[in-house]
Amino acid sequence: MKPTFHTLKISDIRRETEDTVSIAFEIPSDLIDSYQYKPGQYLTLRANINGEDLRRSYSLCSSPDENEWRVAIKQVEKGKFSTFANQNLKVGDLIDVMTPMGNFTTEIDSVNSKNYVLFAAGSGVTPIFSLAKSILKNEPNSSVTLFYGNKGFASIIFREEIEALKNSYLNTFRVVHVLSRESLGNQIQKGRIDKEKCEKLNTAFLNGTRVDSVFVCGPEAMIHAVKDTFSAQGLDESNIHFELFGTNEAKTSDDLSLPKEQSVESNVTIILDGDLFELNLTSGGETILDAAYKAGADLPFACKGGVCCTCKAKIIEGSARMDINYALEKDEVEAGYILTCQSHPTSEKLVISFDD
Ligand code: FES
Repeated sequence: MKPTFHTLKISDIRRETEDTVSIAFEIPSDLIDSYQYKPGQYLTLRANINGEDLRRSYSLCSSPDENEWRVAIKQVEKGKFSTFANQNLKVGDLIDVMTPMGNFTTEIDSVNSKNYVLFAAGSGVTPIFSLAKSILKNEPNSSVTLFYGNKGFASIIFREEIEALKNSYLNTFRVVHVLSRESLGNQIQKGRIDKEKCEKLNTAFLNGTRVDSVFVCGPEAMIHAVKDTFSAQGLDESNIHFELFGTNEAKTSDDLSLPKEQSVESNVTIILDGDLFELNLTSGGETILDAAYKAGADLPFACKGGVCCTCKAKIIEGSARMDINYALEKDEVEAGYILTCQSHPTSEKLVISFDD
């Protein structure tokens, strides 16, 4: 389904920590089907702030079972949208919200008997919390271990809800807080979740446990630490899911990017909702998304940073390279999908489709 914005009413705002609010939306009954979501997915919000049209993606912290659509927004320094959301939005306000998107999810199945290991840092807990609630409720034979890194107690988002969840699922849910600036009385829970800490946590809390699926949401260094630790113990990469946050600069990561190729002049055809749109582009210049947007094509996008996958399209003919890719899985890239916000043509003729 093509991602589409609808104007929704804010039904509730809750202050979760000093610098984080969670915001719930009312979904009119005729849009309920369009807004069905899987745990771990996100919503993109759009607002005109001081004359600037801004979009930001925020993960849903609610789970589909709760019949609620709620995102958490942490105010970041100089963050235009997050400051607006934390300081200006009120219950009853109308705001444009895109239909749910995202790959950071899993098929929940009541017959599963899996051991899930979740890692979150700071507001990275948002999709992780959604996943934990869904798994615990719908997979009674599965277990969930959450490693959750924060600066201190006061910055732990959903602290009470997580405690309540633990009390409801005493036998299947375990939470290990890791604090960088406060002490929990032992060394292992003190510090940041880097490679060394990850290995120690693994040894101390999971040793001997079969791990089936790992989800990690946080900064890039933490993602690499978790990936390296669990790959080294034999877990297939397809079972290590990650969602990046905290990187807004366009930076290239060696194993997440695709190789650059020689510059070519390309005729690009874009298929969107059955319509064809053409433009000429050089491989070393603007991205396909930017060039098409300037030329008047209303392509879907949100982060423009290679993180969210809203701008995903499929190559029908020709080839393209991506500057960075934090969003597409390996099998999607192999199947010809690209992030148009990061892509440049590498063939003289390129046909891409947003409809596939
Ligand atoms: S718009 Fe988010 S990955 Fe392209």
